[in-house]
Amino acid sequence: MSDEDVSSEPEFGTMAAWTVDAVGALGDDHALAAACRGSGGPAALGWFAEHLQLGAGVRLLDVGAGMGGPAAWARATAGAVPVLVEPMEAACRAATDLFALAPIVATAEHLPLGDATVGRAWSLGVLCTTSDQRAALGEVARVLEPGGACGLLVYVRTVADLDTEPEVNHFPVEDELRALVDVAGLAVTGEASLSDLPDPPASWRAQEEAVDDWIEQAHGHTDAWQDAHDDEAAVGHLLQTGQVVGRLLVVAREGARR
Ligand SMILES: C[S@@+](CC[C@H](N)C(=O)[O-])C[C@H]1O[C@@H](n2cnc3c(N)ncnc32)[C@H](O)[C@@H]1O
Repeated sequence: MSDEDVSSEPEFGTMAAWTVDAVGALGDDHALAAACRGSGGPAALGWFAEHLQLGAGVRLLDVGAGMGGPAAWARATAGAVPVLVEPMEAACRAATDLFALAPIVATAEHLPLGDATVGRAWSLGVLCTTSDQRAALGEVARVLEPGGACGLLVYVRTVADLDTEPEVNHFPVEDELRALVDVAGLAVTGEASLSDLPDPPASWRAQEEAVDDWIEQAHGHTDAWQDAHDDEAAVGHLLQTGQVVGRLLVVAREGARR
């Protein structure tokens, strides 16, 4: 796979390795908060778990699994059996080091899974980092079995012109997102806004901050840290000013679940 196939977001390259080191220094209890990036924290994960009816032994495909935090949360909280797909090898290594998970290295646009083989999936904060969103959703639709469902956390733009256009993000407008879902042959069966869900508990935020502080202390002088920090700050600004908002959708393939 060429580097052009995937986002070159520094956060999920160098930052992934640094995150593993930070958790090693601060303690394993920091791993979930450190490795859930883009997933909106426990409230959003809980919302998806409820709407996807995750439970003990239920297989869950995680597309764009990052460092494995959401998948590990689903395993620990709901007893789900996650299958991870993630294109960045550094993020895959972090998922293994932090949670003993073994992601498949692949992109959303080319899922290495058979047609109609997946009952439940989620893809959290990923669609807006993929350049071919139509292909990515088409692949999700292809692998879902009839009646199967996928949770999507998508950051959508609320204005035509953003203050800054982050290089690695392609935020659709809400109507584009709906059209993409429609073209993929999927139907929206549940929806919410990230802003309607509770903030992460103080303990979760404290762990996130401790990991961020540790990484800054160790690597804040490097260009890689500065690049990642600038990207995060740019997206943070768009979220704080409401130019970009988080939308949670559950999309389903027609038919009765087998
Ligand atoms: C904001 S992170 C979210 C990671 C994880 N889902 C989470 O919630 O913590 C976006 C993830 O999408 C991955 N990604 C980027 N391009 C992708 C593609 N074409 N297919 C699948 N994943 C992709 C990145 O490598 C990164 O891990």
